Amino acid sequence: MKAYLLHQAGGIKNLQLEDILRPTPAAGEVLIETKALSLNPVDFKVRPSEEVLTMILGTDERPVILGWDVAGVVAECGEGVTEFAVGDRVFGMIRFPGHGKAYAESVVSPADQLSLIPEGVSFEAAAATTLAALTAWQVLSPRVNAGDRVLIHAGSGGVGHYAIQLAKHLGAYVITTSSAKNRDFVLSLGADEHVDYRETRFEDVLSDLDFVLDGMGGDVLANSMKVVKDGGGIVSLPTHEFEPAMAAEAEARDIRLEFVLVASNGDDMKQLASLLKDGTLKVHVSRTLPFSELPEAHRLLESGRTVGKLVVIL
Ligand SMILES: NC(=O)c1ccc[n+]([C@@H]2O[C@H](COP(=O)([O-])OP(=O)(O)OC[C@H]3O[C@@H](n4cnc5c(N)ncnc54)[C@H](OP(=O)(O)O)[C@@H]3O)[C@@H](O)[C@H]2O)c1
Repeated sequence: MKAYLLHQAGGIKNLQLEDILRPTPAAGEVLIETKALSLNPVDFKVRPSEEVLTMILGTDERPVILGWDVAGVVAECGEGVTEFAVGDRVFGMIRFPGHGKAYAESVVSPADQLSLIPEGVSFEAAAATTLAALTAWQVLSPRVNAGDRVLIHAGSGGVGHYAIQLAKHLGAYVITTSSAKNRDFVLSLGADEHVDYRETRFEDVLSDLDFVLDGMGGDVLANSMKVVKDGGGIVSLPTHEFEPAMAAEAEARDIRLEFVLVASNGDDMKQLASLLKDGTLKVHVSRTLPFSELPEAHRLLESGRTVGKLVVIL
């Protein structure tokens, strides 16, 4: 089978399409014939650094195969797998954090990290509803309550476009930031208010929020402290180390300031499948590329301008 191997951390050109042996599922695993896969900023964040690769993939073996988000068809079941059968359409975020090996024509996944794809949902849409959607779900579902006033930064991005919809589903009043060109898009997802971060400093117009989802870090995170109320919460997705002064202020004001790292979870995938099935969750794939152009997807994502998700089809 063909897979993109990364023999050494580095630039996009280090992603090399090569022929390798198809993997075999062990007990509790299934082999998936990949139909679509999606990419995330973590893909281009790990690619250039041996240290970060080893930390996120949990291995110093090389070459590695990047990627975690897969939709496809079960081609083989390992011993003891009863939930899925050959021919089933499945999707999931495989072994995150860890070595997911999704940039490949076939992928082995623990069965308990997958869900069936609901009828009527395409492989492209399913592949897009994986790491980004799981992140939004795992952050918001335990922290947001009906009636909360919630700010979602970068609402037009991969995580943000799911977070708007899921926060609305949980009953929150949702305010979101993006540039003007994505205003209509984020409002179409159900956001109640939009702030164009290029024209307006959100910290000048917002206050007293119950919860902020920070997809940017840096000044966006620092200024989010000004708009959250005492006793509220902030989750930062890019930042896991907080300035001591910020951490001290959070403690003094009883603000739960957290970094959350998404984790593979089949039960959460099934929740997302059910929200896709009943139409609660809409997927926005702004661009699909063929497998041969997967490196181009890295370049596009690195621009930081992705609307919704980028998907690679096989
Ligand atoms: N901790 C975790 O487990 C975890 C999981 C998922 C993602 N993440 C991290 O979370 C971040 C977001 O991920 P993602 O997949 O959503 O990224 P993404 O899809 O690449 O986000 C792109 C979007 O960001 C918007 N944007 C850029 N600058 C902005 C700003 N200053 N204010 C508001 N919006 C801005 C852009 O909209 P405009 O073009 O309109 O500006 C664009 O639509 C990344 O750093 C990623 O690594 C962490």
